[in-house]
Amino acid sequence: MAGIDYSERIPNNVSLADNRRLQRALEEWHPKFLDWWMQMGPDGFQAKDVYLRTAVSVDAQGWAQFDYVRMPEYRWGLFLAEPEPGRTIGFGDHMGAPAWQDVPGEYRGVLRRLIVTQGDTEPASVEQQRHLGRTCPSLYDLRNLFQINVEEGRHLWAMVYLLDAYFGRDGREESEALLQRRSGDRDKPRILGAFNEKTPDWISYLMFTYFTDRDGKYQLASLAESGFDPLSRTCRFMLTEEAHHLFVGETGIGRVVQRTCELMREGKTDDVRRLGGIDLATIQRYINFHYSVSLDLFGSEMSTNAANFYTMGLKGRFEESKKRDDHRLKDSTYSINELDGDRIATREAPALPSLNERLRDDYIADCQRGLDRWNQVIKKHEIDHELTLPHRGFHRAIGLFGEVKVAPDGRLLSEAEWDARKQEWLPTEADQAYVASLMQPVTAIGRFANWIAPPARGVNGRPVDFEYVRLA
Ligand SMILES: [Fe+2]
Ligand SMILES: [Fe+2]
Repeated sequence: MAGIDYSERIPNNVSLADNRRLQRALEEWHPKFLDWWMQMGPDGFQAKDVYLRTAVSVDAQGWAQFDYVRMPEYRWGLFLAEPEPGRTIGFGDHMGAPAWQDVPGEYRGVLRRLIVTQGDTEPASVEQQRHLGRTCPSLYDLRNLFQINVEEGRHLWAMVYLLDAYFGRDGREESEALLQRRSGDRDKPRILGAFNEKTPDWISYLMFTYFTDRDGKYQLASLAESGFDPLSRTCRFMLTEEAHHLFVGETGIGRVVQRTCELMREGKTDDVRRLGGIDLATIQRYINFHYSVSLDLFGSEMSTNAANFYTMGLKGRFEESKKRDDHRLKDSTYSINELDGDRIATREAPALPSLNERLRDDYIADCQRGLDRWNQVIKKHEIDHELTLPHRGFHRAIGLFGEVKVAPDGRLLSEAEWDARKQEWLPTEADQAYVASLMQPVTAIGRFANWIAPPARGVNGRPVDFEYVRLA
């Protein structure tokens, strides 16, 4: 790879040109990343021109430049949000001290683990989505898929930058390991459960971008509060990209719901499968699945790790700096669930170890907003039906609810009741086979698969019938 001007090849605002050691580390890593991308990134389409957004700087003009790019030539850049002069640590034992510009020695291992865990989710989602291009419902959707894929690739770069720039040799080893684990692989799985699930079809993908990318938003937002300033600034910039992923999920499911409602009205029936649509009951089961596996990503209700991350000043609460309390939480409490015989009750728990639950609460409130919007679409079609989020205890594997069976309405169930009814609540094999049968590629310019409505508008002011991917 000699002869490549890396400061040009890798757009950045981290003074890469002045940091020989970092340049060398990235020069070594870059071809390995490309190998991974060709092996595990989007299947096919690598030689096609895709209308993509590239960040070339962090200012308003530079962070969203649109042009046709072949994905392997995408310029994965390294960007940190602009520094806040005089920034101090906003919570925990070190509150008020200047933010760390270097890794605090005593927290080195913990910090590295936090960065690796976040970093691992980025390539994982690219792997999970790699076959979807083959069955895209439109060129518009295909382009959005690839936009998300290259940006998750960039998020991997962002975490690798931190590992290479601040963690020396173990950082470089972790950077390599991030390219070696594989989503769903029995021997070398990705670190977190939801990132080893399959994303076999476009409904699962849209649900993933709505529910699972949103977990990413909450993790990044709490890391953006970190006292380790480079991590904070990196995550702040990543959040600007994450917003697009959430948009794809929210509008994508909204478009599916809209199409379903149109078919229900046209055919005067709830059974839109006959008309090639996805019935609301099936959409609900997909919501139930993706929401519940995403809730698990927040971890146990009570967690010493979460308490330590906070006390150490490494990971804050969502919108920590907007909160008006002591930012130490040693004497405060937080309301969490507990099991009381055959019912679910609440109790006040010490605030620090319940930080996972607090973040989950913020996430749940945010998830509900999308549901409200989808329900508006249903209402506009004068259909009497409401999509809902299941109870937080439904279909959980981690924490308090991992040990019991809970119905979507929050009732505790026996194993037998659960087994008898779970197919009403989770996608069945028949649902998955039906959804799979709909996954026929639609690639004519401006055309959309029958099960999804076109978007309200195109990308970057372009029309909906723009040639977002040049397949010819
Ligand atoms: Fe990401
Ligand atoms: Fe994302």
